[in-house]
Amino acid sequence: MTNPYKPGAGTMPEYLAGRDDIIDNIKTILLDLRDGGMATHTIFYGVRGVGKTVLLNKVEDIAATYNYLYEHIECDEHFDFVHSITLTCKYFIRQMSRMESVKALVENAKAVLLSFKMTYGVEDNDVSFGVDADTLNTFETANSGDLSRDLLTLFITLGELAVKCKKQICFLIDEIQNLKKKDLTALIVSLHRVNQLNLPIILIGAGLPTILRISSDAKSYAERLFDFVKITSLKQYDAVKALTEPAKKSKIRYSGEAIKYILNATGNYPYFIQQYGRILWKLSNGIGYEFTKDDAENVYNEYIEKIDDSFFSTRFNKSTKAEKNFLLAMVSFDKFPCSTKELAIKMNSNQSKISPIRNNLINKGLLYAPSYGEIDFTVPFFDDYLRRILLEKG
Ligand SMILES: Nc1ncnc2c1ncn2[C@@H]1O[C@H](COP(=O)(O)OP(=O)(O)OP(=O)(O)O)[C@@H](O)[C@H]1O
Ligand SMILES: [Mg+2]
Repeated sequence: MTNPYKPGAGTMPEYLAGRDDIIDNIKTILLDLRDGGMATHTIFYGVRGVGKTVLLNKVEDIAATYNYLYEHIECDEHFDFVHSITLTCKYFIRQMSRMESVKALVENAKAVLLSFKMTYGVEDNDVSFGVDADTLNTFETANSGDLSRDLLTLFITLGELAVKCKKQICFLIDEIQNLKKKDLTALIVSLHRVNQLNLPIILIGAGLPTILRISSDAKSYAERLFDFVKITSLKQYDAVKALTEPAKKSKIRYSGEAIKYILNATGNYPYFIQQYGRILWKLSNGIGYEFTKDDAENVYNEYIEKIDDSFFSTRFNKSTKAEKNFLLAMVSFDKFPCSTKELAIKMNSNQSKISPIRNNLINKGLLYAPSYGEIDFTVPFFDDYLRRILLEKG
């Protein structure tokens, strides 16, 4: 039997535990929009490895079932929003252009997109769709040079076309905290207006907790525009299921003590549960076995080595020396979030000196500020990892 545990980024687990309510809610939201209701733009937020991307992938499946036009966009740190939005809109327009009855609207949408592309210098020869640039002025255009305005024109054109095609459009945006402020602002402004016009465009996003502050900094009404859904570690009952269900097909079980031990080590975080399960599985020969607490204890060190390598060290190694010192200083606290003011004192420094380092670490996605003057790690158990590093250093 193959190993049913799938630690990774966005890999759909064999058993998706504890997210039924969230999924049902998304179904209602998408059905509501399909029936002409208002778009409830939703953002899943939470720390690393908690299952945000998996949920977004699930939404993609639901959108497909409900016949939506959708596109999954992942924003990395060097993400080019305008380029990506241009290609995504091109795809949507192409999909809708097949309908004879909307030909004139499609031509208009193509021209708007072409003017948008030319205004922002997006390199993609294919976006011209055969529209002649000289005739652009006979169409609407998205070429003011003000991104919020132009994106809005593009979204309205797209939304009106979708209405005529009886289609709904879903943008699925992962790692949304990486959007630059002007891009996020343009997106918020456009979605806000699209809602007022009751056009069938919806955003479902996912990102680190930082997104809460970034979006309200971008536009104060973002808090009302988005439904922010916190994704947390699993409740005990669901964590037990995440651990035990994938093995059931192979008649592999866990003793109560083993379950307790593993869930205590993983803090009920989905990524860690998958990783523990995957390592432990090797002891079983893949069929008919009951894991004991001893088994779980025996692979603990291997589990720690694995998560250090696959989850923590890549993130730690992305930081500069000063950032590493900042992170290591944080572990002198035993509770998080911790105060930046107190941290500065512990570092024999002052707040204004350490604040650029703090900001870089937030931008790199390693820290977030749950409230003013406080910071926490975006990676669960990162403090334990840093303590191991300090131990190694002696
Ligand atoms: N509800 C769940 N039940 C069981 N396993 C899950 C669940 N959610 C996620 N997982 C598993 O946890 C791991 C991490 O999931 P995912 O990549 O979606 O997390 P994430 O929150 O997007 O992390 P990151 O912030 O690093 O992108 C994957 O291996 C996935 O299979
Ligand atoms: Mg993710």
